Amino acid sequence: MPGPGKPRIEAVRGDITREQVEAIVNAANSALRGGGGVDGAIHRAAGPRLAEAGAALAPCQPGDAKATPAFDLDPPVRHVIHTVGPVWHGGGQGEPGILESCYRRCLEIGTALGVKSIAFPAISTGVYGYPPALAADVAVQTLRATPTRVEVIRLVAFDDFTYQLYLDRLT
Ligand code: APR
Repeated sequence: MPGPGKPRIEAVRGDITREQVEAIVNAANSALRGGGGVDGAIHRAAGPRLAEAGAALAPCQPGDAKATPAFDLDPPVRHVIHTVGPVWHGGGQGEPGILESCYRRCLEIGTALGVKSIAFPAISTGVYGYPPALAADVAVQTLRATPTRVEVIRLVAFDDFTYQLYLDRLT
């Protein structure tokens, strides 16, 4: 049983919109109105009220995060925590620090919201071009280092390659 501040971190392979957790993290853009990739999937599943709620909180700066209700997501989820990851420009423009901030801020907000379980997509590794292995390093290291009252952290991989990266770092 994990002690206080020591969440269980696990990797799964699947679609984050189907995860049975209290909060799911969205890899959004600063306008918080939806997009492609996981952002598009979450907005399609949550319905049009998600974009309205996001627009009311926009802009969200890279590395920061903002929480909204999850509306029509089924299975029911309490919150969507929208975070804006770094666009990869080769790694010399502060990208690792911004990605680390995404994971840390989402955990801080999850703790503040009192959620016990949270699911993350592989932030920035799609459209934003962050190399998946480097992103997995940042994700696991940051999640292990950030004190939180969240008890279960689930890293949801949409492909086998990303899933294996997580397994290699968690076992
Ligand atoms: N469930 C879980 N993961 C998913 C899903 C899904 N349904 N759909 C895509 N993914 C994965 C991708 O395979 C990738 O590994 O999420 C990861 C992040 O990829 P993107 O969704 O492209 O997000 P990102 O790279 O952070 O780019 C964000 O893309 O969609 C736009 O509005 C968004 O401008 C923002 C940018």
